[in-house]
Order: sequence, then C-alpha cells, then structure tokens
Amino acid sequence: MEIKGKVFIVTGGASGLGEGTARMLAANGATVVIADMQVEKGEAIAREIGGAFVQCDVSQEADGQAVVARAVALGKLMGLVNCAGIAPAEKTVGKSGAHSLGVFTKTVMVNLVGSFNMIRLAADAMCKNEPESTGERGVLISTASVAAYDGQIGQAAYSASKGGIVGMTLPIARDLARNGQGSAAVAGGKRSIPVASWKAARLRQTRAAHHRKRDAQRRGHPPRRGDPAGAALSAAAAGQRRARAL
Ligand SMILES: NC(=O)c1ccc[n+]([C@@H]2O[C@H](COP(=O)([O-])OP(=O)(O)OC[C@H]3O[C@@H](n4cnc5c(N)ncnc54)[C@H](O)[C@@H]3O)[C@@H](O)[C@H]2O)c1
Repeated sequence: MEIKGKVFIVTGGASGLGEGTARMLAANGATVVIADMQVEKGEAIAREIGGAFVQCDVSQEADGQAVVARAVALGKLMGLVNCAGIAPAEKTVGKSGAHSLGVFTKTVMVNLVGSFNMIRLAADAMCKNEPESTGERGVLISTASVAAYDGQIGQAAYSASKGGIVGMTLPIARDLARNGQGSAAVAGGKRSIPVASWKAARLRQTRAAHHRKRDAQRRGHPPRRGDPAGAALSAAAAGQRRARAL
C-alpha cells in the first residue's frame, strides 16, 4: 500500500509499539492521528511527527467516533493500527481470593471491544474511499499476542482478550473483502503472525466457488438454488472430499 500522503490512525500511539508505528508511518509520508489516553506524551509525539492527537478511550463509542472524524478531516483515511492495550496479571484464584471480575471485564473491554470499536468505525469511513489503483480502500491491523495461544499463569484476562482478536480477524476480513479492505492481526512475542488479509479471504471464496462448480460438473447437472436434491448431492460430495482429505 502507498503510505505517502495518506492518513492513518494509531491507537496506543503514545507509547511502545504504537509510538514506533506512528513514527514509521510519518517517516514514510503519512499523516498520523494518535489516539491514546496519555495526553502529554501523545501530544508531544504528534507535534514531533507533524500529526494530530486525540485523547481517546478506545472502548468508548463517542471517543472512537471523534478519532475517525478527525482523521477523515485530515485527508484520505487508509489505515488503522490498533496498539492500545493493557496487560494486568492476576491468577484465577490468588492469595486474596477470586480474580477480580472488574479487572477481567476491563481487559476485555480495552483490548478486544476497544479494538473492534475502532475497526468498525474506521472501516465504515474507509468504505466510502475512492479505491486505489490496486482496488484497496484501506487496511485494519490489530495487535494480538502469543498469549492468545500460550497464555501463562496470571494471563487469563489478557489471553482471553487477545484470543478474541485472533478469532475476529478472519470474519472481519471476510466481511470487508468485497469493499477492498483488509484485516490482519499481529501476534507479538515468540509466535509469528496469523494474518487474514482480504486477498486471502477472496482466494478462499474463489476456491470454494471453484469446488462447487467442479462438483456440479461431475454430477452432470448443476443443482439449482434451494433444490433439496442438489443440496443433498453437494453435501455428499463435500463429505467425500473430506473423507479423501483425512
Ligand atoms: N510489547 C510487547 O512485547 C508485546 C507483545 C505482544 C503483544 N503486545 C501488545 O501490543 C500492544 C502495545 O503494547 P506496548 O508494549 O507498546 O504497550 P504500551 O503500554 O507501551 O502502550 C500501550 C498504549 O495504549 C494506551 N492505552 C491503554 N489503554 C487505552 C485505552 N483504553 N484507550 C486508548 N489508549 C489506551 C496506553 O496509554 C499506552 O500508550 C498491546 O496491545 C500489547 O498487548 C505487546
């Protein structure tokens, strides 16, 4: 994707991975909107990289809307990078009793619900973009973690939130593939990256359509939509394919 001259939102851009991402995007000619709770740091970085800062709690609908509105006002919004996150450590049952439900809920609200809040709002704005020559209208990137697959002691809440990010990435990519938007999740840590891009989603759809057509040709008469006999034949053919694959 051509970064130069485009607008990107980076949540959690006042620190760590988000700050690095914001600086990299700006160094490559993008205008970056940093969306973070830390006002002083966020504003200072935004000034330094010639971008904008919006104070934002990603789990709040109105805050997310304000961030996207600011980004759209600055130019063509082509990307969201979700880096905002928290990582509290608490055992399911610790020395002082059961895991705090508030801590669990907050972790899921910020890391998972917050990521989805920003994705849905940014995607809605990017759907209205004139597509690039490549057909792209934008990209959505979220930060998962190795903890999504291999959570350690004390990481029940964090792992649940990151597992949610991994789980929603593919259906989001499928939802948006037709619009020329891509969704990907990056798992920081030891494990490398589970990615679901709109290209991958489209490839799967194309393959599935090809298999349906081939099965119909093998049977000699393509089933009509809603034809129960045809549906039964399709199911039988799919069963045979699965059996062959095992
Ligand atoms: N650093 C790593 O090694 C690593 C590994 C795996 C995954 N991750 C994930 O990457 C992301 C960034 O990690 P980091 O190490 O840069 O963390 P960090 O603590 O340096 O930065 C997180 C930023 O998110 C902001 N933030 C927290 N809650 C927010 C909210 N509700 N709304 C808006 N902003 C909020 C913080 O103010 C902070 O600036 C996190 O989601 C983290 O779980 C990091």
